[in-house]
Amino acid sequence: MKSVTKIVSGRVNLLGEHTDYNGGMVMPACLSVTLQLQMALRSDKRVRIAAEGFVDCADRSLADEPQGHWSDVALGAMREAHSLGQIQGGADLVISSTIPAGAGLSSSAALTVAILKAARDIAQSKMSDVDIALAAQRVEHEYIGVPCGIMDQMVVSVGHPKQVIALDTASLEYSKIDLPIDHAIAVVHSGFSRKLSDGRYKARKEECDQARAAFSATKLCLLDPDYIRNSDGIEPILKRRAMHCATEHRRVLSGRNALRCEDALQFGELMNESHISMRDDFQMSLPEIDALVDSACDLGATGARLTGGGFGGCIVSLVPRERTAVWVESLLAKHPRASLIDVI
Ligand code: GLA
Repeated sequence: MKSVTKIVSGRVNLLGEHTDYNGGMVMPACLSVTLQLQMALRSDKRVRIAAEGFVDCADRSLADEPQGHWSDVALGAMREAHSLGQIQGGADLVISSTIPAGAGLSSSAALTVAILKAARDIAQSKMSDVDIALAAQRVEHEYIGVPCGIMDQMVVSVGHPKQVIALDTASLEYSKIDLPIDHAIAVVHSGFSRKLSDGRYKARKEECDQARAAFSATKLCLLDPDYIRNSDGIEPILKRRAMHCATEHRRVLSGRNALRCEDALQFGELMNESHISMRDDFQMSLPEIDALVDSACDLGATGARLTGGGFGGCIVSLVPRERTAVWVESLLAKHPRASLIDVI
């Protein structure tokens, strides 16, 4: 039976949170933490999954419905590969990953993309990386039940380690941009985990849908912030959600220019503004994460913000490269629950 190995990166989002299902821009980068997957085909319909960090192995049938078990994501991706006609039976999967789960660094997208790419290799199909990303998003929407955007799957599928992608999530057009050489991107876990499937992500998505209806807009990100501010008769909470999306989209456009001009100070300022918008308008932060972001800036980061779906997970900071080691040490000393995940 055929077998194949795939390695994919986790991602961190530098700017553009919750804009990827509101018709806007995002700016994620691939990290150096990775997930390695070995897939060996089986002649029956079983999917056996062994994953580092999980004591039990999962032994599932391709016909299984989701069970709220950690293996659901892998099984959903296997079922998708099956319905794409790329594999006929089950498989033995061995997963080893340095991407922490529940940290907002796309461990789930990394796994689905790795499985779909492994199946593509085995089938020797010509499916594009963008189509792989769309298939991985279908797994989240249709099997897991998380109404996520396309950012994670796209960057994990088309990105390369340490490279920023400016992605228009409406057209899926993207450009690749280098990080400023004199600055590092540091990813620090707050010590507070969260799951996209815990309901809060979905609640924000629903509020955005309501805001779209209230403003009769097709894409919240394309609304003019002044228009949102001056609109009467719309629930304040929906105005806030719309305001975050509209201003965040504009911050990504400015951030893309700043990075192209190697203007780290401007980019850092946009990261700080993004955090305030996530904290106050989208209300997706935690007091402990706000404190971590404040310390990151006080200790010398050029910019810092919460990253990912929110309500826990990691912060991302832009730090002058030569000061990174001292900065990390001081930040972790001040926040004992926090831990360093990656520096790129
Ligand atoms: C999660 C989702 C993404 C995106 C971010 C928030 O990572 O999977 O699609 O919505 O949250 O920006």
